[in-house]
Amino acid sequence: MVIVDIHTHIYPPIFVSLLRSRTTVPYIRTFPDAPDSSRLIILPGEDDPTTPSTSRGRPVGPQYWDIAEKVAFMDTHKIDISVISLANPWLDFLPAEEAGDAARQINDDVDGLCAKYPGRLYAFGTLPLSAPVETVVKEVERLVGMKHMRGIIMGTSGLGKGLDDPALDPIYAALEKHGQVIFLHPHYGLPGSVYGPRASEYGHVLPLALGFPLETTIAVTRMLLSGVWDRFQKLQVLIAHSGGTLPFLAGRIESCIKHDGHLKKEGKLKGRRPVWDVLKKNIYLDAVIYSEVGLKAAVDASGSDRLLFGTDHPFFPPLEEQATEWASVNTNYQAIGAAFGDDEKSMHDVLGNNAVTILNLDGRRS
Ligand code: URA
Ligand code: ZN
Repeated sequence: MVIVDIHTHIYPPIFVSLLRSRTTVPYIRTFPDAPDSSRLIILPGEDDPTTPSTSRGRPVGPQYWDIAEKVAFMDTHKIDISVISLANPWLDFLPAEEAGDAARQINDDVDGLCAKYPGRLYAFGTLPLSAPVETVVKEVERLVGMKHMRGIIMGTSGLGKGLDDPALDPIYAALEKHGQVIFLHPHYGLPGSVYGPRASEYGHVLPLALGFPLETTIAVTRMLLSGVWDRFQKLQVLIAHSGGTLPFLAGRIESCIKHDGHLKKEGKLKGRRPVWDVLKKNIYLDAVIYSEVGLKAAVDASGSDRLLFGTDHPFFPPLEEQATEWASVNTNYQAIGAAFGDDEKSMHDVLGNNAVTILNLDGRRS
């Protein structure tokens, strides 16, 4: 049996230096009420100077940038292979003229980190999405030739206007042509106003538990509505957090599309692929949903051959200082055990075989 973690992040040292040099979101700094620990502020709503530092960002340490810590975490949790990715907000915030070089450097660094642990680490590359489209396409093509790269990670903003923006078509075309998977991951959540005036009393629960999944669901629904998978019928997208709420809402989304008079009048219902078809042919879902109920919805929507184990490391560490194992990871393992019961084949597929096949990994531990 091989266990593969396809949702696991790294902020390589040059990215950390970049964040430390900044004073606006995203940035890393220490705060006067906790001078001994650096905090990473990446979400737009977590930068309120009137709130205590514990509600601003998250404490960061070597687990974010030291690859040896990643491998130690993998060993603790019996993970054979990890497909690492830069975490949000990637390079979305960089000026256009800096993004291309930054992406090349970060991708080279991440590929180099993978080379240090042969057979155990692969990666999703990062695209310079604020740069001109040609620069982005060039980076897609460069990544194809890199030994450990197995696709790209990207957020929901695309080139700034979302993933239904036709300007992304050359990028989708390049990814489809080279069989590169998009790992689609949220970052921006929902506008802060939806969380209400007491949001800062509730830590990060509302943006992470609800903002992220809804952001993801909206982004994918906009892709469906704009016909991305009608134009790029082989484009494969791995969606974080078991698709946000997509598996649960797919029927409602499909029904609302079918009953929309405007879409009908514009001729947009003809030749359209149903949501269920896209879910079963173009969408992979990670298993980072922490419950049997969520996993079952994901399996019903896309199939157990399209569901892949993940941890979201280094996010969601244990809050108890002495803990060695991560409850967030064990909860996911338990949910997979509960969802698949006696169906050992599906369980092994989800834990690792699917990832080995889909991402063309060498499943042998070195
Ligand atoms: N998981 C992530 O990947 N990013 C966050 O900001 C929080 C959790
Ligand atoms: Zn993540």
